[in-house]
Amino acid sequence: MTPLKSNEIRKMEAAGRMAAECLQYVGGFVKAGTTTEELDQIAYDWIMSREATPAPLGYHGFPKSICTSVNNCICHGVPDGTVLKDGDAINIDVTCIKEGFHGDTSSMFFVGNVANAVTKLSDCAFEAMHKGIEAILPNGTVGDIGFAINKFVTRKGYYPVKEIGGHGIGAIFHGDPFVPSYGKKGKGEPLKPFTCLTVEPMINETEAPIKELSIPGSSIKYYETGDGTLSAQFEHTVLITDSGYEILTRTD
Ligand code: MF3
Ligand code: CO
Ligand code: CO
Repeated sequence: MTPLKSNEIRKMEAAGRMAAECLQYVGGFVKAGTTTEELDQIAYDWIMSREATPAPLGYHGFPKSICTSVNNCICHGVPDGTVLKDGDAINIDVTCIKEGFHGDTSSMFFVGNVANAVTKLSDCAFEAMHKGIEAILPNGTVGDIGFAINKFVTRKGYYPVKEIGGHGIGAIFHGDPFVPSYGKKGKGEPLKPFTCLTVEPMINETEAPIKELSIPGSSIKYYETGDGTLSAQFEHTVLITDSGYEILTRTD
């Protein structure tokens, strides 16, 4: 990605804030009995009322405005008639386009009371995302991020998903570089000042190979754990500055 001009950085900040506010708003509707399609409609209405666009809708044929990945779904879950029930964990992933720029963020939400295994995995994914973000240095590399994530996750006894990861973001949704959840310090593509990327580790309970599944009418795939065990994920969009980084998908 090419470095952003200052007016473009302001637009990325606005898009990031909007995505974070939408995610928080939609997350407030997570409860037993709600369908993932209802969450999608709530997100669509919220985003459209703010003269923004839900980036997933129609993206490579993706049929909905957000991704809703429940329990063993790793990512890109398609909102449908699935009824949330007590004990479920759901990742909601919101991407808004505002004035031509993308803000992309996701978080886990719990339905009623969840098992300790759920909160532990989710906490690990949250902390892993922050370890990855904290490893960002201007002119560092994506390997620095991946190394920090993988080290933290494996010490907790969990498994970062290797096949899918973060991405450059800006005027385009998914650009260079790929941001893996594993790697070697100092290796991989450089972290260029005044570009943006996402840090979005997906963390599994087991080492089982992941399943790639098709979405009718779309070239986007969704993913599930190979053995039906849990997966968790958090995502922020981050601006690399000349002195460090700035998390864009925040509400404060
Ligand atoms: N928001 C997802 C990401 O973090 C991408 C969703 S693309 C879609 O990169 F087509 F599945 F919606
Ligand atoms: Co993303
Ligand atoms: Co996302």
